[in-house]
Amino acid sequence: MRKKIVAGNWKMNLNLQEGVALATELKESLAAAKPNCDVVICTPFIHLAKVADVVDGTVIGLGAENCADKEKGAYTGEVSAAQVKSTGAQYVILGHSERRQYYGETAEILKEKVNLALANGLKVIFCIGEVLEEREAGKQNEVVGSQLADSLFDLTEEQLANIILAYEPVWAIGTGKTATAEQAEDMHAFIRGVIAGRFGEVAAENISILYGGSCKPSNAKEIFSKPDVDGGLIGGAALKCADFRGIIDAWN
Ligand code: 13P
Repeated sequence: MRKKIVAGNWKMNLNLQEGVALATELKESLAAAKPNCDVVICTPFIHLAKVADVVDGTVIGLGAENCADKEKGAYTGEVSAAQVKSTGAQYVILGHSERRQYYGETAEILKEKVNLALANGLKVIFCIGEVLEEREAGKQNEVVGSQLADSLFDLTEEQLANIILAYEPVWAIGTGKTATAEQAEDMHAFIRGVIAGRFGEVAAENISILYGGSCKPSNAKEIFSKPDVDGGLIGGAALKCADFRGIIDAWN
């Protein structure tokens, strides 16, 4: 049975103290009333070690928002998958549209990152999604299908078991414009079909596919009610405990 997951992506927000405070608040909230899904927070690198101490022994999983495409060495300013793992984190987001768009991350680079993350025992939250012009041209399936094929099709079925997919239509990220539940379901079903075509029905049934893009407490329940939507990857609404909790509670 695939997992239901609500994951937060803090992006480049919150200083160290604010991040620790938010993680602590979330921990207390989830201790008081257990979630009905897996909960993960993905933070900037600088938060990881301290937040790992906060969430240790709780239901909250911890992830980074990126890792390097190189194993180690003279790559000033980069953070390797092994370094992420050593903080206590168990997850890493890779392929976020902001990384693809602003930092030129190509399918080839992402392939390297995915391999290194998996080799270091991290679970990968791999993001895919089309931009507005692609959707308007009716090319969203083609685009997302290629993103999956180009970075993930060389994996083994065993490796795929440590991948979580996140469909994030770029036009819905931070814009307040959510995909409709039907648009999300159509794409999620398509994605599951692509995974089935390459890795088989069992792998496709077992992989969690999250929706991301202006997800909030007010729309999460409807989006999560769709059969191929297994949860959300949350940006802005993950920065306030009450909002994030509200989305987690959409699974109740
Ligand atoms: P928003 O929830 O702020 O739209 O961001 C979504 C996202 O990019 C999560 O990775």
